[in-house]
Amino acid sequence: MNNRLIIVGAGGHGRVVADNAVKNGYKNIAFVDDAAVGECEGFPIIGTTGILKSLDDGKTDFVIAIGSNDNREELAQKHDVNWVVLIHPSAQIGISARIGAGTVVMACAVVNAGASVGKHCIVNTGAVVEHDNIIEDFAHISPKAALGGTVSVGKKTQIGLGAVVKNNIKICDNCTIGAGSVVVKNIETSGTYVGVPAKEVL
Ligand SMILES: CC(C)(COP(=O)(O)OP(=O)(O)OC[C@H]1O[C@@H](n2cnc3c(N)ncnc32)[C@H](O)[C@@H]1OP(=O)(O)O)[C@@H](O)C(=O)NCCC(=O)NCCS
Repeated sequence: MNNRLIIVGAGGHGRVVADNAVKNGYKNIAFVDDAAVGECEGFPIIGTTGILKSLDDGKTDFVIAIGSNDNREELAQKHDVNWVVLIHPSAQIGISARIGAGTVVMACAVVNAGASVGKHCIVNTGAVVEHDNIIEDFAHISPKAALGGTVSVGKKTQIGLGAVVKNNIKICDNCTIGAGSVVVKNIETSGTYVGVPAKEVL
C-alpha cells in the first residue's frame, strides 16, 4: 500500500470510498472527476480522468468510485494504473476468499470462505457474499443484498438494495435485480428482474 490514493469519482459513492480509505490508513487522498470541481469529503478534486496516467508515479494507488458498472469498466480498460482493493476494517473476509484489483468492500460487508470477487466490483455496505460465490468483474452487490452459498453473479450485474438470491443460483452478465427482489431461479437472459419471486420487467 502506498501513502497516496487517487479516487476516481467525486459523488456520493466516492465520499463513502474516501471514508473507507481513511480507515485503511491513507493520509494523502485526492479525487479526479470529469464534472465536479473543488473538494469532496474534505479532499481536493485535482483534475479530470485525463490526468490519471500522469499521476501514476509508482508511489500512488488508484480506485474507481463510480456506481455505474459500465463506467467503471470503461475507465479500468482505458487507464492502466495501480488499481487497489479497499476493504473496510469492519468487513469480514474469509481466509480463502479472493478479491480482484480495484474492488471496494464497504462497512460491515461479508465475503465468506471460498468466494471469488472479480475486478472493480462493489460489495456495498452490509452486503453478504456467502461461501463459494463467484462474482464476476464490474458487478455491484448493493447495500444489504444477501447471496446464499454457491451463487454466481455475472459481469456488470447489479444486485439491488436488500435483494436476496437463493443458494446455488446463477445470474448471467448485464442484469439488474431490483431492490428487495428475491431470485429463486437461474437467470440466463440479460435484463431487469424485480419482485418476489423476481420476474423480468419487459
Ligand atoms: C429495478 C429498477 C432498476 C427498475 O427501474 P426502472 O427501469 O426505472 O423501472 P420503473 O421504475 O419504471 O419500474 C418498472 C416497473 O417495475 C416495478 N418495480 C421497479 N422496481 C421494483 C422493485 N425493486 N421491486 C418490485 N417492483 C419494482 C415498478 O413498480 C414498475 O411497475 P409497473 O410497470 O407495474 O408500474 C429499480 O426500480 C431498482 O430497484 N433499482 C435498484 C436500486 C438500487 O438497489 N440501488 C443501489 C444503490 S447503492
